Amino acid sequence: MTIGYYEVMADTFILGIESSCDETAAAVVRSGEQMISNVVASQIATHKPYGGVVPELASREHLRAIVPVVKQALAEAGKTFETVDALAVTQGPGLAGSLLVGISYAKALAYALDKPLIAVNHLEGHIHAVLLEERQKGNRELRFPVLALVVSGGHTHLYLAEQRGESWSYENIGHTRDDAAGEAFDKVAKLLGLGYPGGPVIDRLSKHGDARAVKFPPSQIKHPDRRTKAPTLVAKDATKGGATPGGAPAPLSFADVHPRFDFSYSGIKTAVLRYVETHDMAEAIEARRKALAALAKPKLEDFLANCDKQTLDLVASFQRAVVGDLVSKTLAAAREYDVATLFVTGGVAANGELRETFERDSAEQGLPVFFPSRPLSTDNAAMIAAAAYPKFVARQFAPMDFSAEVGMALR
Ligand code: KG4
Ligand code: ZN
Repeated sequence: MTIGYYEVMADTFILGIESSCDETAAAVVRSGEQMISNVVASQIATHKPYGGVVPELASREHLRAIVPVVKQALAEAGKTFETVDALAVTQGPGLAGSLLVGISYAKALAYALDKPLIAVNHLEGHIHAVLLEERQKGNRELRFPVLALVVSGGHTHLYLAEQRGESWSYENIGHTRDDAAGEAFDKVAKLLGLGYPGGPVIDRLSKHGDARAVKFPPSQIKHPDRRTKAPTLVAKDATKGGATPGGAPAPLSFADVHPRFDFSYSGIKTAVLRYVETHDMAEAIEARRKALAALAKPKLEDFLANCDKQTLDLVASFQRAVVGDLVSKTLAAAREYDVATLFVTGGVAANGELRETFERDSAEQGLPVFFPSRPLSTDNAAMIAAAAYPKFVARQFAPMDFSAEVGMALR
């Protein structure tokens, strides 16, 4: 099976717009395989004093940034509004107000320019970040089945991805029951006085601590899914696999006959909190919070100067536990579904230990694993423009009355 080799005409330039959370982004991508420009305006400075994303502030910042960001993406690509072929925008999942800024602007542009508009699922975007960069490297061979772990601030989701003709489809085979992995990084960093966002700083500090120092119990899934692997394709769920009005059995999905591979990260966050309480760390944390807040852009040395060994060991042990859980569950799912290729994508895929562990352990399993580069792991619009390309080829354009879908599922 080849990727990116669609039966199409000449080059297609898509202007992608992303505004689902706290990054305003725009990019121009050629035919789903070459990133021509990629501009990301981060709102970290705005949300930092609050220790997390404040939705109202996020919408306001998107409104401020969207026009200059789009103009910069066009200018860097040597393109104009008139010379792009289509517009693509994130429809969901994400924050309602933030999504609406991107969607309203993209609709207005599409209407004024009389160009097609494509609505893209943000999670599909993360998956296509991998495909875009592999095509860009000239790697067009892709073996199916593909399993994709999308691991970010809002999601820890496992999808089986399929390509039929130009269209991609996805089946969810596991997701977090509570906090997403990125959310756990952010919450733990906040409770240790390390600021926001938590992932990048924990990633860098972990190298300086002993990851074996603190033992965390394995994550517990409170309400196990009762589905177990069935010897035949018989669904226990009465709504599936029953007779259709025509008498033929309804088709079963993979997830109907395999166990699920769910995640849970709120337990480990609570365990870190307990550790902090039982080891009297509150005073030191408060001092660190104040010292770091006084610095505009704290560097690694500033963080290290404000962290004792106990904190570094705790951070490293936390990261080791989360990474171990993500890798072992994902690889167990890969074995269960006998997949040929693994993608790991989303903001947490920027994590150094996660990448190294996946690379080492999947190689042992003989499974090729692909990540986006670090800039394309976190939110960006190149992934949205890339995911839009197969939809452009299939002429799947969004009607002008479509709206934001906060909890949009990927199918
Ligand atoms: O994909 P993303 O940019 O936005 C969402 O769709 O959520 O992911 C952001 C998340 C944040 O939780 C952030 O702390 C985490 O990704 N993150 C990391 C790293 N870089 C970003 N987590 C661990 N290690 C990193 N290096
Ligand atoms: Zn994301």
